[in-house]
Amino acid sequence: MDTQVVIIGGGPSGLLLSQVLNRAGIATVVLERSSRAHVLSRIRAGVLEWGSVELLREAGIGARMDAQGLPHDGTYLTDGDRMVHIDFKALTGRRVMIYGQTEVTEDLYAAQDAMGTTVLHGVEDVVIEDLDAAQASVSFTVEGARRTLTCAYVAGCDGFHGVSRKTIPEAKRQEFERVYPFGWLGILSRTPPVHDELIYANSEHGFALASMRNPNLVRYYVQVPLSDKVEDWSDDRFWTEFKRRIPAQAAAALVTGPSIEKSIAPLRSFVSEPLRWGRLLLLGDAAHIVPPTGAKGLNLAFSDVHYASEALIAALTHGSTAGIDGYSARALQRIWKAMRFSWQMTTMLHQFEGEDSFAAQMRRATLAHLADSETAQKDLAENYIGLPY
Ligand code: FAD
Ligand code: DHB
Repeated sequence: MDTQVVIIGGGPSGLLLSQVLNRAGIATVVLERSSRAHVLSRIRAGVLEWGSVELLREAGIGARMDAQGLPHDGTYLTDGDRMVHIDFKALTGRRVMIYGQTEVTEDLYAAQDAMGTTVLHGVEDVVIEDLDAAQASVSFTVEGARRTLTCAYVAGCDGFHGVSRKTIPEAKRQEFERVYPFGWLGILSRTPPVHDELIYANSEHGFALASMRNPNLVRYYVQVPLSDKVEDWSDDRFWTEFKRRIPAQAAAALVTGPSIEKSIAPLRSFVSEPLRWGRLLLLGDAAHIVPPTGAKGLNLAFSDVHYASEALIAALTHGSTAGIDGYSARALQRIWKAMRFSWQMTTMLHQFEGEDSFAAQMRRATLAHLADSETAQKDLAENYIGLPY
């Protein structure tokens, strides 16, 4: 065998899996289509569950996160000017960490460099074969040459548009999907946050989210129709729209400035079952997508890494394959719960085009109940800080 595990995709799930496996003495090769600079330029998730924080620490990459990350003890959900505080710390004893996906990925690349693992960039035309044989094989083109690696297992960490999921015969896959009729327009700006905690704002003009990366870098979003293009949104238009969607108290504290990044992401819920096919395991966005409301995408990718790495270490160090056999069912239990939470948060906070007047009242009533019921707050907090692995 050329290596023990070939990992397709050098995003957060592929890199963390490589990090955890190599620390357990398992050899890996990571195949990434893009350049490192491109992977690091993608501005995505910003909130880490505490389970993710602990996983990163255990994987030996917690130092910069602990020094620069911002622990948050709660968050706000709003209905117009009414702000409902969810106190994670008081309700669950736990908190979350604000630390961007870009930073996590940078830390993972640095740790992989230090360990001397193989991460190949610019890899094209990946073909996965022999998943039911004694050894799997992965062929690809890199720097103009065609190469093949044999291995014991293949980890599909290549995101929603990757090749791994599609390697499982269509007749053996079951897909579940909901596409939402709006996207999120997000900007990054070097300005101080409008509040010291995140604000998920439900307003008569649609949804907005006030997030941050550090005390002088904000990440703000507004819900936009799917037909909108980034070019339709000047900075001025963004700030005007954002300001009228957040509560007056926050709007009064808003500092505006030029955007340094602006992009639109569509919202979708998607699960493909099973997560394992012979010697192939799927992890992260390769197997499932959540709408971003509730910050579960990156965190789910990391819980998959936890389950998959346990299974691979048991198989490759003690020859015990029970974990591999059970991986799909075990990971899916947690995935479906995060699917439910993300769908519920999305429904509770967004305006749906063409909705009836009843829908807006249901959102208001859900937030009113949340404001008055500690039971409802506890349920939200328990899901937001992350269900146990
Ligand atoms: P990815 O990050 O998609 O990484 C997959 C990697 O595989 C990529 O580097 C890709 O280049 C590589 N690849 C793809 N195909 C191939 C191939 N054929 N061969 C080799 N390599 C390949 N989550 C949140 O919680 N909050 C957010 O605000 C948020 N915003 C998002 C915005 C966008 C536009 C997207 C797409 C996702 C967002 N997410 C967000 C979700 C979160 O970023 C993902 O859940 C997370 O990136 C999943 O990590 P991953 O490693 O599984 O997949
Ligand atoms: C961020 C994104 C989210 O989807 C979310 O729920 C919270 C924060 C962010 O990019 O900071």
